[in-house]
Amino acid sequence: MECYHRAYSPMIAPIPLSEALALSSEAGWNQSPGDWQRIFRLCGEACYAIRAEGRVVTTTSAITYGDSLAWIGMVLTTASQRGKGHARTLMQQALADLRAAGVGCIKLDATDLGRPVYAKLGFIDERPVSRWLRKPDGGPLPPAPDNVLASGSIPFALDREAFGADRSALLTALAEEELYTAPNGYAMAREGRNARYFGPCVAQDDATARSLLQAFLARHGHEPALLDLCDEHTGATAIATEVGFQPIRRLMRMYLGDLAGIPLGSGAAIYNLAGFEFG
Ligand SMILES: CC(C)(COP(=O)(O)OP(=O)(O)OC[C@H]1O[C@@H](n2cnc3c(N)ncnc32)[C@H](O)[C@@H]1OP(=O)(O)O)[C@@H](O)C(=O)NCCC(=O)NCCS
Repeated sequence: MECYHRAYSPMIAPIPLSEALALSSEAGWNQSPGDWQRIFRLCGEACYAIRAEGRVVTTTSAITYGDSLAWIGMVLTTASQRGKGHARTLMQQALADLRAAGVGCIKLDATDLGRPVYAKLGFIDERPVSRWLRKPDGGPLPPAPDNVLASGSIPFALDREAFGADRSALLTALAEEELYTAPNGYAMAREGRNARYFGPCVAQDDATARSLLQAFLARHGHEPALLDLCDEHTGATAIATEVGFQPIRRLMRMYLGDLAGIPLGSGAAIYNLAGFEFG
């Protein structure tokens, strides 16, 4: 068994894209090849894998937002290799590296299978988050709003205030696919393996968030679409319901470390997440 990641060790080897994609696809996850390439690029040295049986059997990624917050994602072990401590090994390596880098708070969105793994490492429940699906027959398509542009510049300051940390590198990378802007907010969208993904969506009011989602649906309403939200955000859940989305999976946001100065993520401006792997 070889444990390798992209830095912090002389045993560095790049993680083969096809093997990473096979792992997330086996779990039914939505990541496309482009998603994995973005993860490799954004996480750089903090993308970890274990190789066994001649292939990558476990992965974990960690993306750092500024110097205060890191987000763990892509914690996956192939079914035949579960229960051997692989996920724990990579999580422990990631946590050690993040602590050495001085990151004060680490968060993630946990599935039911992941939650006990993280709880054993000291992660604490923060709030439920969920994934919603809109099928192509999810009702009549809303008209395209005239206050949203499918272009523009990313309002980094608005996002920084809403999210509580600087995720400009992530936003710049995601905007390579689709960016929607309105006077009081923005949204992004990207291709997925199973469905197109809408998010993040950050807006100063419900009307703006609704317009951003309607602009996305005017373009992609004939395809299956996914979005993620914090369950307690009643504005976000109402808008998603109005336009035909339904909840399909519930996860638990968890955190580890010093939360001082880091909002819990309840910022009303975050209508939709960037993805469970990004926050
Ligand atoms: C979650 C997942 C990554 C765990 O991977 P794994 O390599 O089997 O986990 P490990 O063997 O390293 O287990 C780590 C610890 O968690 C415990 N654990 C793992 N899965 C568990 C489960 N379903 N229920 C209870 N405890 C569990 C293990 O007993 C182990 O405890 P220990 O440290 O005291 O020995 C794997 O089940 C998976 O890929 N699931 C599908 C994708 C997914 O949901 N990923 C999580 C995303 S948040």
